[in-house]
This record gives sequence, C-alpha cells and structure tokens, in this order.
Amino acid sequence: MRNYDQNRALVTGGAGFLGSHLCERLLEQGSYVTCLDNLFTGTKRNIDHLLSNPYFDFIQHDVTNPIHIQADEIYNLACPASPVHYQHDPIHTTKTCVLGALNVLGLAKRVNARVLHASTSEVYGDPLVHPQVESYWGHVNPNGTRACYDEGKRCAETFFFDYHRQHNIPIKIPRIFNTYGPRMHPNDGRVVSNFIVQALRDEPITIYGDGSQTRAFCYVDDLIEGFIKLMQTPDSFTGPVNLGNPEEFTIKQLALRILELTGSKSDLVFEPLPADDPRQRRPDITLAQSVLDWHPVVQLDAGLRSTITYFSDLLGLPAACVTPIPDKVAIQPSQAAQGF
Ligand SMILES: NC(=O)c1ccc[n+]([C@@H]2O[C@H](COP(=O)([O-])OP(=O)(O)OC[C@H]3O[C@@H](n4cnc5c(N)ncnc54)[C@H](O)[C@@H]3O)[C@@H](O)[C@H]2O)c1
Repeated sequence: MRNYDQNRALVTGGAGFLGSHLCERLLEQGSYVTCLDNLFTGTKRNIDHLLSNPYFDFIQHDVTNPIHIQADEIYNLACPASPVHYQHDPIHTTKTCVLGALNVLGLAKRVNARVLHASTSEVYGDPLVHPQVESYWGHVNPNGTRACYDEGKRCAETFFFDYHRQHNIPIKIPRIFNTYGPRMHPNDGRVVSNFIVQALRDEPITIYGDGSQTRAFCYVDDLIEGFIKLMQTPDSFTGPVNLGNPEEFTIKQLALRILELTGSKSDLVFEPLPADDPRQRRPDITLAQSVLDWHPVVQLDAGLRSTITYFSDLLGLPAACVTPIPDKVAIQPSQAAQGF
C-alpha cells in the first residue's frame, strides 16, 4: 500500500549499472522509486529483484521524449556511459544528454522537484590541470568522436545551471569519475569490466597505449553514498562537485592486479591509444569532503573482488577463481602517478 507522505524518487537510467544500485539504496531508505529507462545499455536483469517490491515501478521510456509523472526528487542518470555505447549512435547520445536534461528539468519545474544530474569527469576532457578541481573549465575537443558525450554533458550542465538561475530549480551536479562494480555491462569496453572479463576467460588483456596512463577507480557503493549525501544538501549548494576516488593507479597496475586476483593465465597485449584518450585522471575531492563529509572507503582490492565474483557468476564460471590475497600486500596507488 502506497504511503502518500513517502518521498517519491524518479531515477532515469535506473536499469543501468549505477541506476540499479541507486534504486536499491533509495528503496532501503524508504522512498517510493520509479525507474525510467529505455533499456539501451541497461537491462531488466539489473532490477529483476526489485520488480516485486510494491514501492518500485519500472517505466520503459526514452528521456528524449517529455516525461509526465510525479516526483519529489529526480536523479537523472539516463545516458550511455562507455565510449563503445555512446559512440554507437552519437547523435542520439547528444540528444539524450541535451534533450534528456531539458525534459527532466521541465518535469522538475512542473512538479517542483529537486534534481540531481549525473555529470562526468569527461567535462574536463584531456585535462591540463591535475588533479582536476571543479573550477577547471576543461580541455575538450568539440568535434571529435567523444564530443557527443563530453559536449553533451557540458551542455546539460549549462541547462541545469540556467534552469536554476532562471527558474530557481534546486539542482545538484556530481561530476562522476571512473566508477566500477557489479552490474557493469560485460561488453561496454570500460577498463575494469574489460580486464576482468578477459582475465576470467583467460583471453589476452588489451592495454591501450603502454599502460602508464593513470586512472582512479571508485567503487559503486561509495559513489551512491555520495549521491545520497549530495541530494540532502541545502538548496544553496548546487555543485558541481567531484565524486570519485583520488587514489591513482596505472592501467598496467590494474591489469596485473586483476590477473593475480583471478588467477588468470592471460597475457597482456598492447594496442594504440584511442583518439582523445586522457593520459591522467584524478579527482580533487576537497569540496566533497568539506561540504558532504564524503570520501571513498572501499579499497580497490575489495571492490575488485566483489566485481570479479559478479562477473564470474554472470559468465557461469566457478566463484573460486577469486584468489584471496592478504591485506598487507594489497595494491598500492601508483607512486609515479602521484609525482613521487
Ligand atoms: N560509471 C561511471 O564511471 C560514470 C562516470 C561518469 C559519469 N557517469 C554517468 O552516470 C550515468 C549512469 O552511468 P552507468 O555507468 O550506470 O551507465 P549505464 O550505461 O549502465 O547506465 C545508463 C542507463 O541509461 C539508460 N539510457 C541510455 N539512454 C537513455 C535514454 N535516451 N532514455 C532513457 N534511458 C536511457 C540505459 O539503458 C542505462 O540503463 C550516466 O549518465 C553516465 O554518463 C558514469
């Protein structure tokens, strides 16, 4: 039975990787959750376990079309997030970012909802400032093959801030850095899922470039905690605010660790870097720490283990292939990457 005092949350992109974890978390905290998704990269499998919950609804809908439902708070996550997927139909990706933002903001204005928009570290492009701070305006190629996503997300931020200034809509803009965990798409070409799937299948692990480029990896539970804290901030706080893990690792370090944890026999193979691939990526999370009292707590090894377990189940492999490794030899962030 629906309690009409209950918080009504709308999660666009709710059947995707991050969205499904967010739906779960919102249900746990007592919200009535509507998950809206066109199932382009998301899947009903991610929300199967929620479908029988009386406080959960699923609507198949594309955010490029207007949305007419009731909500007190909106989390706008709808958008393919990996290059393989967002470059599949780049025109629709830009439409999803831009028209999706417009439709979500139109809804927020009509129903008087607070709205959080999943922005991205890609708005910084191939950054000339390291680590990236929110005040950095970025270094983005406006007409390259990644622009449908990078510029789409930048334009979405513009819409959010103009709706906030012009119509007083309460907005929250997290800029998400590389996040991983169970329910990532196995074929999305993102580095963590790619390496794990290749390692579990004993296939060669593909490293683009020489593997010395760095990334920082945030576990999904940490990120979702950041979303919840951000939505609870006063209306005067809009962001943008970086959410990600500041511990930086080289891509080669990540590959070697996944090989160890899976006990895989895979070889490393090196291929040319794709166009506009950033060399370094690390969030400065000072703002999130001070305003949200948030910082990631899940260590890379722990996050990798649960992600490996998820993928071995998905691929029908024995769970035993996750090798236990004592904490004292846990992977350490790249010293080179930290400038030592
Ligand atoms: N995971 C990360 O590391 C990361 C980093 C930066 C930003 N983000 C942002 O977070 C959000 C979620 O990313 P994710 O990693 O969960 O990706 P994902 O691909 O798993 O989830 C995206 C979801 O949006 C849905 N979707 C796509 N286009 C849509 C449309 N036009 N209408 C309705 N639904 C649509 C997909 O079906 C999918 O369920 C995205 O907006 C992404 O840009 C994620």
